[in-house]
Amino acid sequence: MREVTLDTAIELGSPYPYTLVVTVDKKGKPNVMGLSWWTFTSLVPPMIAISVGHARYTHECIEGNREFVLCFPSKEQGKAAWQCGIKSGRKTDKFADLGLTTSPSQVVRPPIIERATLAYECKVVGMLECGDHTLYNSEIVAVHGNPELAEHIYSIHYRKLFSMDSRGNVSLDME
Ligand SMILES: Cc1cc2nc3c(=O)[nH]c(=O)nc-3n(C[C@H](O)[C@H](O)[C@H](O)COP(=O)(O)O)c2cc1C
Repeated sequence: MREVTLDTAIELGSPYPYTLVVTVDKKGKPNVMGLSWWTFTSLVPPMIAISVGHARYTHECIEGNREFVLCFPSKEQGKAAWQCGIKSGRKTDKFADLGLTTSPSQVVRPPIIERATLAYECKVVGMLECGDHTLYNSEIVAVHGNPELAEHIYSIHYRKLFSMDSRGNVSLDME
């Protein structure tokens, strides 16, 4: 072992399961951003936490409406999913521009992304300020899945996405 930079460590620790967080703004308009910093925090009750940078439009949206849907994009959504991680909803309508279609959620206001492999509807129940991010701990209030689309997306650092199926077969070219 030798000392490495944080940048190298984040790359070495890759891949991370890459998700899309759907929120709504003050007018109820949906926004979506790419997010790798998520984790389960409890099984009973079921809970997930996400870490959102203070500068993200998504941060502003969650501060206004403490709900989100955490979606796992499927292989076919790779290129759109990458754009969700590099463009801000402050300047663009990512749903309109990227061809991601939505359907209403069961419990929360932000919608579900259709053709994703998984979608967790979440309500924020606690927050922790962590340097330049806020950690939103959230109760899972509904779960939806598309088992036939089980090949979803992973990130390497903030630099690259790839998809992998349950047998470990990998597809690149997500940018
Ligand atoms: C691979 C990847 C992973 C990312 N993970 C996170 C994350 O965990 N938390 C975060 O705040 N931003 C993360 N981002 C950055 C946001 O997705 C990006 O800043 C996005 O443009 C914010 O969109 P918004 O301004 O519409 O909210 C990630 C980006 C990429 C490409």
